[in-house]
Amino acid sequence: MVDLRQPPNEGSPVDTPAQASDTRAMTRPLFITFEGIDGSGKSTQARRLTDHLRSRGLDPLQTREPGGSPGAEEIRALLLTGDPARWSAETEILLFTAARRDHVEKTINPALKEGRPVICDRFADSTRIYQGATRGDLRAIVDDLHTRMIGREPDLTFIIDMDPGEALSRGLARRSGEDRFEHMGLPFQETLRHGFLALAKDHPKRCVLIDGNRPEAQITTEIAARAEAALAI
Ligand SMILES: Nc1ncnc2c1ncn2[C@@H]1O[C@H](COP(=O)(O)OP(=O)(O)OP(=O)(O)O)[C@@H](O)[C@H]1O
Ligand SMILES: [Mg+2]
Repeated sequence: MVDLRQPPNEGSPVDTPAQASDTRAMTRPLFITFEGIDGSGKSTQARRLTDHLRSRGLDPLQTREPGGSPGAEEIRALLLTGDPARWSAETEILLFTAARRDHVEKTINPALKEGRPVICDRFADSTRIYQGATRGDLRAIVDDLHTRMIGREPDLTFIIDMDPGEALSRGLARRSGEDRFEHMGLPFQETLRHGFLALAKDHPKRCVLIDGNRPEAQITTEIAARAEAALAI
């Protein structure tokens, strides 16, 4: 049984020294996250960075939130399907936190312990920013729960910044008619954007702002260079 009094990063596997003769283990395992507004290119760049690191001989694990482990994927379905007003903001925070705890325990920490870089499409910053944009008064609870139940921050966070209107037109192209921007509203995306910009300012050590208004390959080149520097490869 899992002792929930312990944060799941106990022992800080990120700092585990390189092991054995496997050359992949010679590099430092690194927990990398992608954040940014809807449609900014997070999933695209997470996939491209994963491919790039593979081409450099590493064995990265690509994952996403909410979800990323069997239990967390079940919670994802609870969060993303059904009546949008199904959960109160408080219950939603608890569900996100429960999903994240399972994801960290079952997927992220084991991969880092094996010496694999982990690339995650959204993580705790998304909860912080979305919650801040909807119910700012709950931000302290989000942070408190994170400290108590998750206890891990990424080593490197790419925040893809771009104009929400531009992201909207990409989303429309992608979804051919289906568009949740209409549902959420452009002003909401503007609020999220400013939340992410403030986060980057507050955490300059781990956060890198990336200009998302460029061709995919150009963005990947910058991200790959940053990741390689952090991985010391
Ligand atoms: N640099 C780019 N230039 C033009 N189009 C892009 C670029 N990056 C991604 N796209 C396209 O924009 C759309 C949204 O990209 P993607 O799904 O990667 O964004 P996302 O941030 O993961 O979105 P969501 O928040 O919905 O998960 C996709 O159709 C993708 O192919
Ligand atoms: Mg995505």
